[in-house]
Amino acid sequence: KLNSRLFIAEKVRDIDRAVKSGFAINALSGGVDSSAVTMLGHKALGKRLKTYFIDNGIMRRNEPRQIVLLFKRLGVTVDIIDAKEKFFKALKGVTDPEEKREAITRTFYKDVFGSLVRNSKAKYLLQGTILTDVDETVAGIKRQHNVFKQLGIDPQKAFGYKILEPLVQLRKDGVRKVAQALGLPPSVFSRMPFPGPALAARVIGEVTPEKIEMVRHATAITEEALVSQKAFQCMAILHNDRVTGIRDGRRDFGMQIEIRCWDSIDARKAEPTRLPYEILSLLARRIVTEVPGVVSVTYNITPKPPSTMEAI
Ligand code: XMP
Repeated sequence: KLNSRLFIAEKVRDIDRAVKSGFAINALSGGVDSSAVTMLGHKALGKRLKTYFIDNGIMRRNEPRQIVLLFKRLGVTVDIIDAKEKFFKALKGVTDPEEKREAITRTFYKDVFGSLVRNSKAKYLLQGTILTDVDETVAGIKRQHNVFKQLGIDPQKAFGYKILEPLVQLRKDGVRKVAQALGLPPSVFSRMPFPGPALAARVIGEVTPEKIEMVRHATAITEEALVSQKAFQCMAILHNDRVTGIRDGRRDFGMQIEIRCWDSIDARKAEPTRLPYEILSLLARRIVTEVPGVVSVTYNITPKPPSTMEAI
C-alpha cells in the first residue's frame, strides 16, 4: 500500500542525489502527473529546477494561462514557450495515428526541449511517466510520448540529456494520492487525465489549426456539460468523414463529433458512463448550434478493451 509521505521523501532524495549541485528542467502540462513531478522537483531542487509550459497549440481553451497562474500561487515560476508553429508544421499532412504521435514526440523532445536543454545548464529532464504509459507502449497498444528507456531508447544518446521518472511505479490513482499530499489543489489532484498528444489525439485524420479549434470548442462544451457526472474522463472527438445534415432548411454537408465518457479506476479497463439521456440530448444540441460546421453528435458505448479511451 502506498504511503504518500514516505514516497515523497524517497523521491525528493533520489532527485537530489541524481542532480547533485546541477540543474534540471521539466515540462508542466498542468495534468496530475506533470504537476506532481513539478512539486517533487521543486522540493528537491528549488530554483535549480526550471519549469516550462510548452504551448504546442493543441491544448484546451485557456489552459496555458490558468496553469501558470495556479503554480505562481504555489511559489513555482513557470515559463511559457510558444511552440505552436513547430507542432502544426510537424503535423502537416500526417494522417496515421502512430505517425502523428511520433511527430509530436519528436517535436517535443528534439526540437523544443533539445534546444531548451542546450541553452540551459540542465543535464536532467524530470518527467511524469506513469506505469500505465509504460505498459501500453511496451505492449504495442499505443506509443505514449514519454516512454523511452523501456523501448531501448537511450535519451542521453537520442536527445542529449538524462531522464528521471519519479512516478514510474505508480498508476493514476497512486499519483492522485501523492499529488494531494504534495499540497496541490483538488483542481489538479482530481483532474481528468489528458493525453500527451493533447487534442491531436482527438482529431481523426490530419491535424490542422482549424480542426483543433473545432475540437477545442466541442471539448469545452463537453467538459462543462459533464462535469457534474464525476466520470474518470470525458472527451469530444472530431471525425474526418462528413455527413449530410440540414441547417436552416438547407443541406449542410458537415462534420461529426463523437462523445466519449468513461468510468475507470486506473485507465487499464473502462466502461462508458451511463449518462442520463437528457444530458446527452442537451450536449448534442449545444454542440451542433455552437460549433460551426458540426451537424452530427454521437455517443460511444464501447468498453475498453477493445476500445481505447483516446481516439488515436
Ligand atoms: P488509452 O487511449 O490508451 O488511454 O485508453 C489511457 C489513458 O492514458 C491517456 N493517454 C495518454 N497519456 N500520453 C499520455 O501521457 C499519451 O500519449 C496518451 N495517450 C493516452 C488517456 O487520456 C487515458 O487516460
